[in-house]
Amino acid sequence: MELKALSPSASLLAALLHLHCLCVTTFAFVGVATQIQRRTGGPSVLVKASTSESSILPTANSISIDNEDDVEQPSSSSSCRVLLLDHLNINHEKGRHDVVKAFYFDFLGCSIDPRKYDNYLSGKKTVWANIGMHQFHLPEGEPKAQVFQGMITILHSNLDVLMERYNRYLDGEKDDKLAPLQNTEFLVGMLDNEMMLVTDPWGNEFCILPSDDPIEDRAANIGSQPTLDGHVESEGLAMEDITVYVPHTANLDGISRFYEYVFGAPTLEELSSSESNSISIAMGERQTLTFQYHPYGMDADDEVEHHEFRYHDEENDGDSSSDQPFYPSNYGPHISLYVSNLSHAYKQAEKLNVLYVNRRFERQAYTLDEAIDQCMFRVVDMIDPLDENKEVILRLEHEVRSTTTRDGRKYKSCPLLDVSGVN
Ligand SMILES: *[C@@H]1O[C@H](CO)[C@@H](O)[C@H](O)[C@H]1NC(C)=O
Repeated sequence: MELKALSPSASLLAALLHLHCLCVTTFAFVGVATQIQRRTGGPSVLVKASTSESSILPTANSISIDNEDDVEQPSSSSSCRVLLLDHLNINHEKGRHDVVKAFYFDFLGCSIDPRKYDNYLSGKKTVWANIGMHQFHLPEGEPKAQVFQGMITILHSNLDVLMERYNRYLDGEKDDKLAPLQNTEFLVGMLDNEMMLVTDPWGNEFCILPSDDPIEDRAANIGSQPTLDGHVESEGLAMEDITVYVPHTANLDGISRFYEYVFGAPTLEELSSSESNSISIAMGERQTLTFQYHPYGMDADDEVEHHEFRYHDEENDGDSSSDQPFYPSNYGPHISLYVSNLSHAYKQAEKLNVLYVNRRFERQAYTLDEAIDQCMFRVVDMIDPLDENKEVILRLEHEVRSTTTRDGRKYKSCPLLDVSGVN
């Protein structure tokens, strides 16, 4: 109710705490309600829903499409599945590794990825902060940090420890590990003793939920990210959901059909709600990707954007003889997911004409063969397969990964233990 009165820069957390203090029992902010609903259901809901045909919205595969080439056999969606939402890539403020470390490692209890340990030690460039099987990829901004327009939900093994750290920080001891977070946006609040809302130093919003069963939630029997010798595993157990805010004009059903068509990823009706104006898509059996109308209302619609294209960068010059398609570089955040059949997803994306190459990154796959060789390709435009006009609903960069290399061995970056019968 008061949300609209707040300036867009005002912290969502502050708004929520404010609402809470007014003893409002129903949440005005629907994303949080969705998350509570999910948690009370537990992981079994996800498992059940993702295998239950009846819970899935109408899909592109069950509806014939005008262009005959695009008509899929009903079995095609089972040719590809999403196995894992691996990481969120988001820029931190250049030159502020002190803040990155204080927030991700000293407060949240992420573990340091050994593959980026040199950068961690030198205090420059990209670091990876691991949480169970999942990661945050944190490159340097240019120079500013990105603020993801959404909410990141993580499961944590010990909220009391987080609160103790926060209280120590509030006491303001100079040598406190969280001292670099002073004079940033960093803010922590607790709701009903069961959910922590955290604003990171730059304004990103996290919802942190306690775990009823840390061993099950960490799922180390399914996969894990590497830890440094002698370091303990992450306190956080999983990145359970990424909620992406979208304009109120966005075609949510079209987004559902996009995920079903390209990745074989079903929308979970139990977790989607017309009241909260959101849809949740299964990312494997343990995670979701949620698309939700921006909680600040339609006034915020103009500002909702998840890409940042640059058309004139040096990297694209001097290569004019190339017959490769030209793509602008994207400096926005991206998500990375593993699929069970990269070729299938690639072909589906090709049919929708949404293949994308980001020259900002080293690996660049312009063809299916290159995608297979590099175990990845990218997509940025999201299009409803049923929309004849192929209007872009939303731009969000996806790094789509394969668990296996061309010769069937496990892709070295894949955190899943078993990649054998993934299909
Ligand atoms: C993967 O997808 C390709 C392209 O759709 C298909 O030809 C192949 O049979 C699929 N592989 C498996 C193991 O399902």
